[in-house]
Amino acid sequence: MYPRRTMIGGALAALCAVAGKAHAAYGDIPPLKSIAPYPLGVAVRRPQLDDPSWTALAAQQFSRLTPEWEMKMEYVLRDDGSLQTDRSDAIAAFARRNGMALHGHTLIWYAQDGTHFQRLKSRPDAFLAAYADYIQAVMTRYRGLAAGWDVVNEPVWNDGHDLRPCLWRDVLGDDYIALALTAARQADPGAVLFLNDYNLELTPKKRVRFLRLCEDLLKAGAPLDGIGTQTHIGADLLPGAIRVCLADVASLGLKVHVSEVDITTRGDNGANVAQPRIAQVRLIEELMTAYGDIAPAQRYGMTFWALRDRDSWLNGPKERGLVPDEPALFDNLGRPKPMAQAVAAGLASR
Ligand code: G3I
Repeated sequence: MYPRRTMIGGALAALCAVAGKAHAAYGDIPPLKSIAPYPLGVAVRRPQLDDPSWTALAAQQFSRLTPEWEMKMEYVLRDDGSLQTDRSDAIAAFARRNGMALHGHTLIWYAQDGTHFQRLKSRPDAFLAAYADYIQAVMTRYRGLAAGWDVVNEPVWNDGHDLRPCLWRDVLGDDYIALALTAARQADPGAVLFLNDYNLELTPKKRVRFLRLCEDLLKAGAPLDGIGTQTHIGADLLPGAIRVCLADVASLGLKVHVSEVDITTRGDNGANVAQPRIAQVRLIEELMTAYGDIAPAQRYGMTFWALRDRDSWLNGPKERGLVPDEPALFDNLGRPKPMAQAVAAGLASR
């Protein structure tokens, strides 16, 4: 009996031959979206659309885009309540031109509220009207292109003890989440509506609280369709954590979006962990197998939170001075790394 890796390698070689790409060990891969049974996405920032090396690789490999920050309140919402959508419109236009879908990210987040809402916080009725107006104004702009939306992002404390405090909860109470989902359903009945959070694989207590929130919303009749598990992970994540997390998340029967995958090679001390690329391959193999075990009807897709290492927020302005991180599937020259090979092999093995 051949070992599994040999079988996968053989399947991948065969697919490369079919896809017209010579397969060299840790060399070329077939276009990932061409061998994926579910949408594969990548995060995008507006300036990347002016980089031909970025646009060619992203359009070749992926079938969906998630705006990394320019569809969020921090960019879209002006102090007077008007919307600034030039950059998210440009991203949407690029997606349309390239036959790609969009995933809307994100409408309501504890981390961003803005002057417009701060000015209304003493008038709950006006606040709620503005809240629903904002959600519906942003969503209707991309109706028919945005397959789904992170309606509320990161609602649970990182230690899982409760919902996070935020302006939305201060003014509207815990119902702020159901209210956002209801406004979103009215805005675009065809969109898949998500709650999205991170460390669900790293922190079981947070996952338990997050899933209880989802169950409570469903019991109350809130229009929740899906769960986004961001999957920003470290190369030192314990084996099995991803598999257990995805099985738990999928147990609610909702759509599952692995929504922001990156695997940092920086350890806690800011230096690279030992043999990070080997650890990254192991984690990707676990992720691909665990996600492949989810019922096809629940697989909304998988999104990677940067195309190339240098595109990653982990190598952003705030991280200057640290060792360069290598969290993405493609290196700074756009070449597939072992993680990309592992994604391709995982897709080919299905
Ligand atoms: O590009 C501008 C630059 O022109 C300007 O000089 C500079 C200073 O204002 O800002 C730059 O934009 C920054 C942008 O990242 C691009 O680097 C924004 O200020 C900054 O807020 C933005 O940060 C994003 C962050 O979310 C907050 O929106 C990160 O790119 C993005 O990766 C991060 O993504 C989050 C997800 O939404 C939720 N899950 C966690 C994930 C990582 O934190």
